[in-house]
Amino acid sequence: MFNVTANGADIPALGFGTFRMPEADVLRMVPYALHRGFRHIDTAQIYANEAAVGEGLSQSGVSRSQVFLTTKVWVENYRTADFLRSVDESLARLRTDYVDLLLLHWPNDDVPLSDQIGALNAVRAAGKARHIGVSNFNTAQMAEASRLSTAPLVTNQVEYHPYLDQSVVLGAARASGMAVTAYYPMADGKVLSDPVLQDIAARHGRSVPQVVLRWLIQQQNVVALSKTVREERAAENLAIWDMSLDGEEMRAINALAKPQGRIVSPPGLAPVWDSTSR
Ligand SMILES: NC(=O)c1ccc[n+]([C@@H]2O[C@H](COP(=O)([O-])OP(=O)(O)OC[C@H]3O[C@@H](n4cnc5c(N)ncnc54)[C@H](OP(=O)(O)O)[C@@H]3O)[C@@H](O)[C@H]2O)c1
Repeated sequence: MFNVTANGADIPALGFGTFRMPEADVLRMVPYALHRGFRHIDTAQIYANEAAVGEGLSQSGVSRSQVFLTTKVWVENYRTADFLRSVDESLARLRTDYVDLLLLHWPNDDVPLSDQIGALNAVRAAGKARHIGVSNFNTAQMAEASRLSTAPLVTNQVEYHPYLDQSVVLGAARASGMAVTAYYPMADGKVLSDPVLQDIAARHGRSVPQVVLRWLIQQQNVVALSKTVREERAAENLAIWDMSLDGEEMRAINALAKPQGRIVSPPGLAPVWDSTSR
């Protein structure tokens, strides 16, 4: 495993995701993932499984300092008093004094962005988050959030997989020293039957999920998240450090992007997305 360095944060390039993971699965999978070598766990207030993540972490026997732990503040908690209270509640559920990364889960203009960023910075200044960032922000929102923030933002966590071109967001992130953290790498399972990906996987004697995760983390400033409730898949998804895709393979995967490739765009939450170049 290597780390992606972004504005002072050292983020393990592959994280274990817990979205849509019931507590019983989290309790089984988080310790397993940590034993196998994952050192980065991603959760969120809205996933309603922070308590299980905290329990899984403490049961794993892996020391807190060895794990990069991310959570995200839900949009309904963006008013300052609610924000600060909700973070304290997250920390109590997670059984820790701090998270490594605290994100705004979605942009939301019911509360001024300056207040949201102010609260993120206050949490960081209090030592309750080592790093701060955003999720699902477009590039204009990223720029405004960075301008308003005292501490540098370290990542924008966005949907990113072979069917969705994120070069515009990635370019903006790189230009400001930020990472892009890729969620939905499997495009909700759609990548698994892709013939181009199957062909590259066969050439390497690997699986499609391994090729996709390798494609992501081989890109400069990209961190990938991967979720599974199956032990053998967690082990498989982690075994991507002893392979490498060549330039032609990287380009062939980039070329799979399509204009309608975005999957996650919930009405009432999603911003006006940046246009894609492919
Ligand atoms: N910021 C946001 O708004 C946001 C939104 C969505 C997700 N996220 C984060 O990103 C993480 C990753 O996204 P995701 O949950 O959609 O996961 P994903 O890694 O794209 O996985 C999607 C599905 O693929 C299956 N899968 C995983 N590895 C596989 C393998 N080796 N072979 C076959 N199937 C495999 C899993 O099913 P099984 O579990 O049945 O194996 C999983 O349900 C989330 O868990 C969450 O932490 C953030």
